[in-house]
Amino acid sequence: MVSDKEIAHAVAVLRAGGLVAFPTETVYGLGADAANPDAVKKVFAAKGRPHDHPLIVHIVEAVQLAAWAREVPPAAHKLARKFWPGPLTLILKRAPGVNDLITGGQDTIALRAPSHPVARALLARFGGGVAAPSANRFGRVSATTAEHVRREFGATVDCVLDGGAADVGIESTIVDISGPQPTLLRPGWITAQQLEEALGLQLALPAAESPRAPGTLARHYAPQTPLLVMEADLLLELAASLARQGKRVAVLARSAREPLLPGLTWVGAPSDAAGYAHDLYANLRRLDQAGCDVLLAEAPPQAAEWFAIRDRLTRAAAGAPPPEAT
Ligand code: TXA
Ligand code: MG
Repeated sequence: MVSDKEIAHAVAVLRAGGLVAFPTETVYGLGADAANPDAVKKVFAAKGRPHDHPLIVHIVEAVQLAAWAREVPPAAHKLARKFWPGPLTLILKRAPGVNDLITGGQDTIALRAPSHPVARALLARFGGGVAAPSANRFGRVSATTAEHVRREFGATVDCVLDGGAADVGIESTIVDISGPQPTLLRPGWITAQQLEEALGLQLALPAAESPRAPGTLARHYAPQTPLLVMEADLLLELAASLARQGKRVAVLARSAREPLLPGLTWVGAPSDAAGYAHDLYANLRRLDQAGCDVLLAEAPPQAAEWFAIRDRLTRAAAGAPPPEAT
């Protein structure tokens, strides 16, 4: 998939202050040497991301936590032991000397040890931390394939490691353990229930005013086509009515069966949460590119394993105008 030679090249690019896009098990990351402020600046420029939105530093194993965090509480060890390497990001108190660019000037730092073998090979060989947001332009749908990264950034990225389609498909769960009570900042494939079980206590929900995480802005992960999320029966009715008005409609279905309608672009998503998450961003990109007037997504179930998916779909839909205005 990715040769030793390619990893060596990517490491050289990182050492030279360049940008390397790499696969993780969640989504692709746009990486730079976390210890090189000029390299980190390039990440913000490439993404068009505001400077007060901090980056996750990727490491290969938990022993490196001490290099980036000044306190590593027992909860961090517990969670790292149970879920690392894997799709979980920990927020800890930053170590002195960590660049303000990475933390957005905050007193905390986000750290994650990804499990994708290519990410691990890159991080192990590089040795240091790699600051990497999701490899998409600010506010847009995350990239889950190398091809999506290339389309998103073109030549701005010095090196793209192609590790195939990301396994999980949605961004890591983020839990803040820098304060007195662990707080879930971003839901992900690792659920709040799993974290609570591992910690033996209840998580707090973030204070409404506090999030600085762009992944927690109301409108995020957004396709360009206005997106509406609704139950299957309503979706079918609306699709039929819009088609009658001559509108082109794109549908992300889960259980609904495709009706015979003119101007319809239909994607039937997997009916299990893992499959649905895996395909979600690729499906949104595909539907977005169909050039339709509106994109209708069937609402995911209420079960815990669908929680992060519902979160991403809701954010992707936030701010979409009503269908008659599309
Ligand atoms: O799965 C993932 O987490 C992917 C892969 C590449 O690792 N990365 C990712 O990065 O989603 P990004 O930058 O798109 O989202 C990271 C989120 C942002 O919302 C950022 O604001 C938040 O983490 N974050 C970073 N440092 C933080 C901190 N110190 N306190 C609170 N939130 C923080
Ligand atoms: Mg992102």
